[in-house]
Parts: sequence; C-alpha cells; structure tokens
Amino acid sequence: TRAATDATPVKTPTLPDAQTVTEVKHWTDRLFSFRVTRPQSLRFRSGEFVMIGLLGDNGKPLLRAYSIASPAWDDELEFYSIKVQDGPLTSKLQHIQPGDQIILRPKPVGTLVHDALLPGKRIWFFATGTGFAPFASLLREPQTYEDYDEVIITHTCREVAELEYGRQLIEDLKSDEMMIELLGQENLDKIRYYPTTTREESPVMGRITDLMRSGRVYADLGVEPINPDTDRAMVCGNLAFNLEIKELLEGYGLEEGANSKPAQYVVEKAFLD
Ligand code: A2P
Repeated sequence: TRAATDATPVKTPTLPDAQTVTEVKHWTDRLFSFRVTRPQSLRFRSGEFVMIGLLGDNGKPLLRAYSIASPAWDDELEFYSIKVQDGPLTSKLQHIQPGDQIILRPKPVGTLVHDALLPGKRIWFFATGTGFAPFASLLREPQTYEDYDEVIITHTCREVAELEYGRQLIEDLKSDEMMIELLGQENLDKIRYYPTTTREESPVMGRITDLMRSGRVYADLGVEPINPDTDRAMVCGNLAFNLEIKELLEGYGLEEGANSKPAQYVVEKAFLD
C-alpha cells in the first residue's frame, strides 16, 4: 500500500563519534573485554588510550580513558574493562552487546609508547588488574620485538580467574599462525610471562613489588636484576602499585621518560570506574 512505501524511515538517533560493538567476552563477574569498529581516520601508537563511553541519563556523553588493548595494525579496537556495579560508566557499559553503539573520541594519547623509551636490551611490562590492557596491545606490536631481545610481562591480580584474559592472549599469540607469521617465532620466544596472585593460591603468590625486593622474580626467571644500562620498563596498574614500582625502578637507577623526553621507564594509571 502507498502508506507503507511513503512512510518516512524512522531515524535511529546516532551518537557523536559512534562505533559499533562487534564482540563481548565476560571473563569474571568483575572483568570483561569487547571489540568495536575502528574509525577509518583513527591512527594511534600501540599502548595509547582514548576516551570511550555511552550517553548518560542526562543525554550527555559519559566518557572515561581506556587503553586500547588491540595493536595499531588491527582493523578493530579492543578494550579490557572492570565492571563496577555502582560505577557511573561500567555499571551500564558491562551490558553492551554486539550491534550496540558506544562513543569513541578519536584522539589517542598516552605515555606507554616505545617513543618514550631510550633503546635497551630488555623491556619489562608491569601490570596489575586491568592494567594489562596496554600490554595486550604492545605484545602484539612488531616494534616491541624489533626494539628488545627480551620481553618480560608480569601481571599481579587478586585471584587466578583475573589472570585469564592475559594468560589466554599470550597463549593465543604464541600458537596463532597469523600472529607467528606477523611477529616471527623467534620474536614470540622473547616473551616471558610472570603471573602472580595475592589472594588465591597459584604457582607464584605475592605482589610483584615484594617479589622484586626479595629477588624471587629474578631467580624464577633466571635474569639479572633490573639495570639502567640494559632494562626498560612500562608500568600500568592501580595508583598505590604505580607509586611503589616507580620508587623501586628509581632505586635501580632508572629515570622516568615521556614522549618529549625519552628515558628508561614510563607509567600510566589503569582505569577504575
Ligand atoms: P593485594 O591483594 O595485596 O592488595 P586491585 O584489584 O585492588 O586493583 O589490585 C590488583 C592487584 O594489585 C592485587 O593483587 C593487589 O594486591 C595488587 N596491589 C595493590 N596495591 C599494590 C602495591 N602498592 N604494590 C603492589 N601490588 C599492589
């Protein structure tokens, strides 16, 4: 009938800077990861973050800084997030489904980038909780392996299940044919993964900071303690952890770098809603 063909199509309201969710994975009742379409114009360096979010109840965008967990070459963007039941953003964001839209401001920034570090032999990635996200990007970034002979990633969480996103990512990285071809087997062999838990039994228990002080991490990995001539570090975790690691790294003689002044280590706060 005419009425049907003449009807004005219903306009779905589009968000400013909208991107579409393509995949959602729930890891625990407190952690999930998701992938969204990538704006064609978005260029970023592995390790950087962007502002993402949803429209709030007041109709205004509710945005938070999220590290991009996917590498710069990926045609989608991945994020790894906490779920906080009364968190302004994550109480809502945790319910997103494929096909939904989120807001993504295409202005990447951040200090956890290779440009902020001077050349070295060995890179340490120190993460707690969702602080693993920028390293999920950097571990899939070819430059990480061009720049270093050894790549050590430590991840400290309260419970074993909270390690799973990172553990699986590294396992997939080392077994996926596309990744092996892209990064090279000899490069993937440079990765040393050192997960620790603080509130549940696992092979290595304790905060990474304590394991550095006691020397256990160096003994377990069979490496020399951190040295400013050879070692570089990137740190991403909760505030107390960042401050403690900073002090330890400074104690070893490393200096903090920035995009404008590369040095021996860089730090960024993991997002907590
Ligand atoms: P702990 O259980 O001893 O507090 P959260 O989930 O609170 O963000 O913490 C993530 C992990 O970071 C936990 O295993 C926690 O250990 C650890 N952590 C918290 N504060 C520090 C710190 N100052 N130094 C090292 N690790 C820390």
